[in-house]
Amino acid sequence: MLAGNAHRRALARVGRERVCAGGRAVNKPAELPVQTTQPGAVGQTRPHESAHLHVAGAAPYTDDIPELAGTLHAALGLSPLAHGVIESLDLERIRQQPGVVDVFSAREIPGANQCGALLQDEPILAGETGDTLRYRGQPVFAVIATTRDAARRAAALAKEVVRATPLPPLLTPQAAHAAQQYVVPPMHLARGDAATAMAAAPQRLAVAFELGGQEQFYLEGQISYAVPQEDGGMKLFCSTQHPSEMQHHVAHALHRPLHAVQVECRRMGGGFGGKESQSAAFACVAAVAAARLGRPVKLRVDRDDDFLITGRRHCFHVEAEAGFDTEGRLLGAEATLVSRAGHCADLSGPVMTRALCHFDNAYWLPNVALHGYSAKTNTQSNTAFRGFGGPQGAFAVEYLLDSVARRLGRDALDVRRANFYGVAERNVTPYGQTVDDNILHPLVAELEASSDYRARRAAVHAFNAQSPVLKKGLALTPLKFGISFNVTHLNQAGALVHVYTDGSVLVNHGGTEMGQGLNTKVAQVVAHELGLPLAAVRCSATDTQKIANTSATAASTGSDLNGKAAQDAAAQVKRRLVAFIAAKWGCAEAAVVFDEGRVRAPGQDAGFAEVVQQAYLARVQLWSDGFYATPGLHWDKAKLQGRPFFYFAYGAACSEVLLDTLTGEWKLLRADVLHDVGRSLNPAIDIGQIEGAFIQGMGWLTMEELIWHPADGSPRAGLLMTHAPSTYKVPTANDCPADFRVKLYEGENRHDSIHRSKAVGEPPLLLPFSVFFALRDAVSAVGGHRVDPPLQAPATGEALLRAITAVQRAPAD
Ligand code: MTE
Ligand code: MOS
Repeated sequence: MLAGNAHRRALARVGRERVCAGGRAVNKPAELPVQTTQPGAVGQTRPHESAHLHVAGAAPYTDDIPELAGTLHAALGLSPLAHGVIESLDLERIRQQPGVVDVFSAREIPGANQCGALLQDEPILAGETGDTLRYRGQPVFAVIATTRDAARRAAALAKEVVRATPLPPLLTPQAAHAAQQYVVPPMHLARGDAATAMAAAPQRLAVAFELGGQEQFYLEGQISYAVPQEDGGMKLFCSTQHPSEMQHHVAHALHRPLHAVQVECRRMGGGFGGKESQSAAFACVAAVAAARLGRPVKLRVDRDDDFLITGRRHCFHVEAEAGFDTEGRLLGAEATLVSRAGHCADLSGPVMTRALCHFDNAYWLPNVALHGYSAKTNTQSNTAFRGFGGPQGAFAVEYLLDSVARRLGRDALDVRRANFYGVAERNVTPYGQTVDDNILHPLVAELEASSDYRARRAAVHAFNAQSPVLKKGLALTPLKFGISFNVTHLNQAGALVHVYTDGSVLVNHGGTEMGQGLNTKVAQVVAHELGLPLAAVRCSATDTQKIANTSATAASTGSDLNGKAAQDAAAQVKRRLVAFIAAKWGCAEAAVVFDEGRVRAPGQDAGFAEVVQQAYLARVQLWSDGFYATPGLHWDKAKLQGRPFFYFAYGAACSEVLLDTLTGEWKLLRADVLHDVGRSLNPAIDIGQIEGAFIQGMGWLTMEELIWHPADGSPRAGLLMTHAPSTYKVPTANDCPADFRVKLYEGENRHDSIHRSKAVGEPPLLLPFSVFFALRDAVSAVGGHRVDPPLQAPATGEALLRAITAVQRAPAD
């Protein structure tokens, strides 16, 4: 189906999806309950709905859609300065380049030059003479040419045609915090009296550390293909987690009503949060160009440009302090979290909210004061990335507890457990939500036993006692993650279920498929509802003309929301079929059963397709819409109080590392994971998500390092130096532990989620905290655990060596 380069590209894209998110490439297969007799039923292991296409290179991504005749290609001219005022734009020079058909800047955008996710603070293109350049890599103008190569060559002249007066840039969160430059007002979340509690506590301790950002590194980069439609309409094929928001931005940029803009996304080659808001600028540029020229225009961003233009996970600077008792119980805690938001707000506000709402992680904090500052810097605008601030917040309290344990000379797991949320008491979060589904105690106890934690702790200790250079480290960390969008109204979804006269079923819902298996799970739900084999159900591309006003596929809520909406639609069709056939058969409606592709009642048995045909002839409506809104949520954005989450997902991981203290090199020897997905909709997909998130989170905390050229007055100031895989290292199959034991925790969601399952997309990203703290444990062994290692994240070889040196040089206390 795909030839040549497109085929190889598609395969390459699938590669990471396979290793990091869907796959079981390197490790022994987990035991999965494979069952084939009732294939449509939920709870069964089923392959990803596109797996056979992924591996054959036959799953079309946006760039694989056959190009229409007359298609042109766009590229963006980028700001050569981190901060400055535009003096002139010599776009005439660009226009004269070979193959160039059109060039435009902000002035030519017919509607609003605006693509901010929540605030109107993000221009699509930087502007004109007198306007500000906000970061190095900011799109300033668009070039449209006959080939992508010609467009890129012309756009690369931006360094020469964009003339600007430089201004001093603010590049680090600390610098922006010192200058009180924020993208949203500071946030404070407090309960009790942290200062008094800390002052009265038997012991007190403070930590300060850097926690790095992370590039999403979706294998398929940002791309939009805009095709003009009749009468001012515009259709976009867009790799996006948020088709409705793309529809809004494009409509505003074109100054057209929403009904004139259609956005379609069949699948993404990964999104990881990076295509929640940040697909917007590319969609808008492609659409504006297509509207100007009346021709289809494609904008596929080169990997380096993708790095330079778009933002990623927020890095955080954290300062935290705690007062605690001899058991390590946190009596009072205070933390200041400063994030690098970048040049505009994007989703930085909600990211900080989630960070503050996850500082508690698994722990009861009676007195706590948290301060969140989203620092405005002259860098790419940071955005959603798997966990959405939650990992950063939870990491802060884990770092604190790790230090508390070392200070007390107690096992870190014991200190963590002493702080766990209680079941009937000590169970209210700092933001006022009662933790009413706590399974931390049994879950962690099970992992402690199955990972053989205590014996291995002793073995690590014995190993380190006789090994001066190589040191081992061990850590077991828990997680609790809130499921729902913090913004209540986003927790809604719609679906359409069409039953055709041959008994086959087409499902459309508002969620997007990015490799996470959402379509597979939704199809399973619908097949289950109608008693059909899974093969009878197909999901179609996400399309704003089918489901209107959708939320982003984000916050791990995809299957919770769209699964319920699709179930609602399928149930309505089923109710009509039941009423029809019960009347025909003269039996009670309650006696009709849909199972294994058949419809049965006592003494009656017919094929599903046969019943559907009869119903069609009797003029029964064989399709339906469905809707779902998560119940019980409320949130006071000003006070940061309420019940933002429908439920919590839990998990824990135990990791053991081996560290070479002379080189900083290390290996993850073994990782044991026990993770809660409620009653799994599809164990294979859930385990794939857990493994992928584990490795991705491990990459964030140990190897993926972002380096911007410092504000040293040179023209390179603010340049993201690590903007390609040559300098930015993501984990590979080789980094996966040889011994990786991933298990799903037995249990069901206490809350009425889709078939009592739990969301799985983001929570397991917190599992590899255990890798970082195992490394910190190994570094700590260098000083006989008497010195608290000042280890920064990512714990790269250099960071580990710096921490080792600091431990060696520190006077033992
Ligand atoms: N898995 C794959 N393979 N690719 C992705 O891009 N994104 C993650 C997670 N798992 C992602 C993924 C993120 S950031 C989220 S929020 C969820 O999937 C979104 O999908 P869901 O809500 O259907 O779980
Ligand atoms: Mo995920 S960060 O919510 O797209």
